[in-house]
Amino acid sequence: MRIGIGNDHAGCSLRQPVIDLLNELGHEVVDFGADSPEPIDYPDVAVEVARAVAAGDVDLGILICGTGIGMSMSADKVAGVYAAACSDCFSARLAREHTGANVLCIGGRVVGPGLAQELVTAFLNTQPSSEDRHVRRRQKMSDIC
Ligand code: RB5
Repeated sequence: MRIGIGNDHAGCSLRQPVIDLLNELGHEVVDFGADSPEPIDYPDVAVEVARAVAAGDVDLGILICGTGIGMSMSADKVAGVYAAACSDCFSARLAREHTGANVLCIGGRVVGPGLAQELVTAFLNTQPSSEDRHVRRRQKMSDIC
């Protein structure tokens, strides 16, 4: 898959471990930065990755900030984007399987590199469920706004 990745300064520590994993798994990485501890504003990065997902330029997105929350709230503002901040593998899997998340958000101040890689693996290995109830609920989410 083609995966868009972006982070702010607080997500910098997880950036390379996640990129390394994506390369190992054979995914194409589209890097929206940033490779620096210099403070930047997470909405600026989130919107770029989210727009790439919404446009179909990348299949899925991964956003990393301090908590994953600012990135997820910002990315979710873009129509067609469903961003989920996750810090456990069960949530990362169900974010995709039930709720059809297309952007995974991770907190660099919440999880370490090993868990971050497991979250990404769980997310990428899961497809949105085609069971009626999940399709119906995702449609209802999509109808909001
Ligand atoms: C930056 O200090 C921090 O607020 C940001 O990375 C993120 O955690 C916001 O949700």
